[in-house]
Amino acid sequence: MRFGYFDDGTREYVIETPRTPYPWINYLGTEDFFSLISHTAGGYCFYRDARFRRILRYRYNNVPADAGGRYLYIRDGDDVWTPSWMPMKSELATYQCRHGLGTTRITGARNGVTAEMLFVVPLGETAEIQQLTLTNTSVHTKELRLFSFVEFCLWNAWDDQTNFQRNFSTGEVEVDGSLIIHKTEYRERRNHFAVFGVNAPVAGFDTDRETFLGLYNGFHEPEAVLEGSPRNSVASGWAPVGSHCLEVSLAPGESRQFVFVLGYVENPVDRKWESPGVVNKERARALMARFDSPQHVADAVAELRDYWSEMLGTYTLASPDERLDRMVNIWNPYQCMVTFNMSRSASYFESGIGRGMGFRDSNQDLLGFVHLVPERARQRIIDIASTQFADGSAYHQYQPLTKKGNHDIGSGFNDDPLWLIAGVAAYIKETGDFAILEEDVSFDNNPDDSASLFEHLKRSFHFTLSNLGPHGLPLIGRADWNDCLNLNCFSEAPDEPYQTTANREGRTAESLFIAGQFVHVAPDFAALADHMGFSDESAAALIHAQDMERAVLDHGWDGEWFLRAYDFFGNKVGSRECEEGRIFIESQGYCVMAGIGVDDGKALRALDAVKEHLDSGYGIVLNQPAYSRYHVELGEISSYPPGYKENAGIFCHNNPWVMIAETRVGRGDRAFEYYKKLAPAYLEEMSDVHRTEPYVYSQMVAGKDAIRHGEAKNSWLTGTAAWNYVAIAHHMLGVRPEFEGLRVSPCIGPEIPGFTVTRKCRGATYVIRVTNSLRHPEPRLAVNGEAIQGTLLPYAPVGTTVTVDCVT
Ligand code: BGC
Ligand code: NOJ
Repeated sequence: MRFGYFDDGTREYVIETPRTPYPWINYLGTEDFFSLISHTAGGYCFYRDARFRRILRYRYNNVPADAGGRYLYIRDGDDVWTPSWMPMKSELATYQCRHGLGTTRITGARNGVTAEMLFVVPLGETAEIQQLTLTNTSVHTKELRLFSFVEFCLWNAWDDQTNFQRNFSTGEVEVDGSLIIHKTEYRERRNHFAVFGVNAPVAGFDTDRETFLGLYNGFHEPEAVLEGSPRNSVASGWAPVGSHCLEVSLAPGESRQFVFVLGYVENPVDRKWESPGVVNKERARALMARFDSPQHVADAVAELRDYWSEMLGTYTLASPDERLDRMVNIWNPYQCMVTFNMSRSASYFESGIGRGMGFRDSNQDLLGFVHLVPERARQRIIDIASTQFADGSAYHQYQPLTKKGNHDIGSGFNDDPLWLIAGVAAYIKETGDFAILEEDVSFDNNPDDSASLFEHLKRSFHFTLSNLGPHGLPLIGRADWNDCLNLNCFSEAPDEPYQTTANREGRTAESLFIAGQFVHVAPDFAALADHMGFSDESAAALIHAQDMERAVLDHGWDGEWFLRAYDFFGNKVGSRECEEGRIFIESQGYCVMAGIGVDDGKALRALDAVKEHLDSGYGIVLNQPAYSRYHVELGEISSYPPGYKENAGIFCHNNPWVMIAETRVGRGDRAFEYYKKLAPAYLEEMSDVHRTEPYVYSQMVAGKDAIRHGEAKNSWLTGTAAWNYVAIAHHMLGVRPEFEGLRVSPCIGPEIPGFTVTRKCRGATYVIRVTNSLRHPEPRLAVNGEAIQGTLLPYAPVGTTVTVDCVT
């Protein structure tokens, strides 16, 4: 069942009913100010940090789901309704929500009035603009009263939801004409306040929640609105809100527009006050003035549209499959940019107060956005590398505001260091900026202990080599990519976190995933070493990779597939000898991506085993059989009920490794078959089962052991976005930058008989026309009409356009 449709022309998903199977959200903002907005106008916004600078309050896991946001109540006679449907839930004559690239437009109509709300965070602004267009479609004059509504967060979102003994007494506001100023804690150490204003005179206002709603009322029964008049309340402690009351008279057919601005404003310390106790509102007024007319809003929207067109123009596809085109051209890169901006902080599944930036997550996200924002990717790499320790290990996470490593979680996830090599290699392939390798970068953010970025990579590589176990395979530490495979943890107490509980000392538990990862990154590391002139280091790296490959084949092959690990006792994990968890996805994907077993048929067998044991109607599950009971020697993985999360759920993040692996062995048809099972645009028709947004990936879909098989969770903030992008754009469509040129090597099977990719890279444009006839073992290429040898196009001069014909 569908709940809307894709409008590719406007790059929007159009939701046609408010009764979606889950709140379907969008993100507004590009740099400092971000909003999460659901299709019923729920959600919140924040400045830079979703924990410390939260502007609107939002209650997670609320009843009903998704209550609280930016609401507009319309009082028409005695009838009160909200065009976003929530919270009044009055029947609407029409409803539509258009989520686009950084804009959301919600339209509702009732009793001859149409209200369209356009939400946007303009480029360069620290404010959410909410533009209302109100139209009288009836034959009578309408006398309406409008009540805007937001609820402010007292800045620190964690404290706001926990420390009531204090924060019920700190709330403060000021009202000045149409400006509502939220100034809690401004009297002391904060130099910032929030402003909620409108470009029209008001008939009244409210800023105290209890007065506006009534103590025992929900958002759907605001007393002030139901009784028809604002109370002009001024919050003192408790819960500050912002509500303007506007009186509007509309002749039949008449339309009027109002611009509400919800902004974040910082003042210089010495210019905080206009007069004692009165906030200096100069900057707030200037902000209001920049958006005092619909024309200014239209300009901001146009500017944002150009920004996205320019960015998404880096890689565009024209194929006969419109679902594929919309994934590659619009929604997948858009989601990659959201992961760039949010990491794992704020979504409808991440509360914005928890995890910081993951070392491993951030490097992988980079694979999906490096071509879109290369300069910002460069800075991200430096930030990440600065949290590495001198021995090559790394903090598992760092905090976005301070950029410092997170001590609570610490280090010990032994795959982390190698991801840095993958991230840096991807950046250099895209940009050719080898100079980044010579940047001086601190260890653990200590300026007195620093080395070149290349030295960081070297320490990453050698960290694995100095941490090998009895079979010559990498020690897993706390966990590898699979956070929940905790082989040294042995947790028996219910309140211990798996991620941070002291591990047993042991140098036995080994990971076949890290082994594959090591072999996979080694050629890139060697190439970079060569480039730096360290040919010995480079040659040695390739030999280490061969040794690792040998160790995998000797000790990591289980007969039909690759093992997953050796546990603390040296027992096999992911082997046919096991009772549960006999086969895992990660080592099959990563070892084959690394090329292990490609020559002797093991790769094919491993991938066939994936198909036979792990594939399902909705994607490839992580392991089989699912763990049916808690295994203390395996940790969190066995804590989940069968079919959920890492215990045999469909992790959409590692499915693309198998897709890429399938292209490694030339089976593009199978890769594409897997791709279509996960790519949201292909799942639109089963939105009732899948439940999350049909325009973005989710982290996990319940596996075949789960009662709710096919149901997705954790949409938006997941490494799934980057890896599926890499799988389709780089490997199936086959256009990817390498150090010395642009590789064109499609492998997508017969379903896509031909396509054109236009790729901008290092200042040149490549128009690549592919005839996918599948007649040649190696694609044949002609550049500007001239046949070339092989599949690597040398980089063209800046400013040139190259036409490439490719026949497979
Ligand atoms: C999740 C990860 C998370 C870990 C921490 C896992 O189940 O997939 O996202 O990092 O739990 O507990
Ligand atoms: C989520 C984490 O963010 C990611 O790094 C990890 O690999 C997966 N969980 C799998 O456990």
